[in-house]
Amino acid sequence: MLNLVKSAFYKEKETRRALARFIERGGQLSYGKECRDFESAFAKWQGAKYAVMFSSGSTANFALVQALMHLHHLKRGDAVGFSAVTWPTNILPLIQLGLKPVPIDVDLKTLNISPKTLQTSFKKHKLKAVFLTHVLGLCDDIKGIVSFCKKNKIFLIEDTCEALGTVCDGKKLGSFGLGGTFSFFIGHHMSTIEGGMVVTNDEHVSRELRIIRSHGWDRHLEPHEQKSLRERHGVDDFYAQYTFYNLGNNFRPTEVSGFLGKIQLKHADTIVNKRERNFKKLSKAIHSKSDLYYPIETRHIEVISNFAFPLITRTKAVQEELVRRARGKVEIRPLIAGNITRQPFYKLHGSMHSEKLPNAEIIHERGLYFGNNPDLSHKDIQTLIEIFTNFKI
Ligand SMILES: Cc1ncc(COP(=O)(O)O)c(C=O)c1O
Repeated sequence: MLNLVKSAFYKEKETRRALARFIERGGQLSYGKECRDFESAFAKWQGAKYAVMFSSGSTANFALVQALMHLHHLKRGDAVGFSAVTWPTNILPLIQLGLKPVPIDVDLKTLNISPKTLQTSFKKHKLKAVFLTHVLGLCDDIKGIVSFCKKNKIFLIEDTCEALGTVCDGKKLGSFGLGGTFSFFIGHHMSTIEGGMVVTNDEHVSRELRIIRSHGWDRHLEPHEQKSLRERHGVDDFYAQYTFYNLGNNFRPTEVSGFLGKIQLKHADTIVNKRERNFKKLSKAIHSKSDLYYPIETRHIEVISNFAFPLITRTKAVQEELVRRARGKVEIRPLIAGNITRQPFYKLHGSMHSEKLPNAEIIHERGLYFGNNPDLSHKDIQTLIEIFTNFKI
């Protein structure tokens, strides 16, 4: 059986052994040096000024949206666009923080918001921000989206939880907007068991993220940031220990995740390369079956960091046949949450405005994916190609 996730870590055995030795050594296990070292290494790898680690991609998403509100870039009631094909915790902060979530349809070839779908939505809603989701390592015309957002004063943020390492227009995804979020959950590209990160080049966003991550206090701020906050609020060193400057939560990661992040990041380029090599082999054989599948466009992407292989079948009958053929051989799942506005949670709490989302709808009805992990052998890839191409309807 080819499962979605083959192992918890890249280089599973040696990573588990290193983790056991790390625990045995003793010392601090709550947020500390390991996490800080991982943050510095990750910022460097990503090409960002700041990286702030979180307990998950979901808490990273929440904190990033909240940081934009602390900085008055967004206020309650503002319309924020999001990809109609995404993960629930991309939208959750918009709902919980009192913003107006606006679903934007995706392009069927890239599974992402395109400048065209963004423009259509902007004409109808006065979007103040857009939270992109780079689904399964893919992206659309990111340069076009950045320039549309700049022209129309829209804050751009990126949910890069599914696209760690994808490069487009010479830059890694997650670095095109005011902030980009990442997930290190075991099923994703790089694992710290659970974990997340926000990268940004904006000093103020980085400071707010560290306040939000830890109860609203200043403990993880730089000395000059602490000094300025304490002076502004007339707080001495004794009371500074328990002074809470803004809304915050406990979204901190542990040293276990920081330690694992440092180890796994050393393999990140290898992991991305292997997944990309698999993706290209699979795509050449499978996506080219245009009678069975809608094409996926990747020519504009310089490095495709894909961790699960997407398929959108031309008909429901093809999708049903694939479910039958894969049973007991390959683990397949729906293409994330499909048209997320059809999810029960969204019907309960999402926007009351109905949007036409024809492409998200096709993905909902006929999309699926299977795992693309770095340990897939040549034989595994041949098996996948056989299952997903060698049949007739
Ligand atoms: C696009 C996207 N955003 C956010 C998340 C949440 O990440 P985490 O599981 O680390 O909370 C996921 C999780 O799968 C995701 O796919």
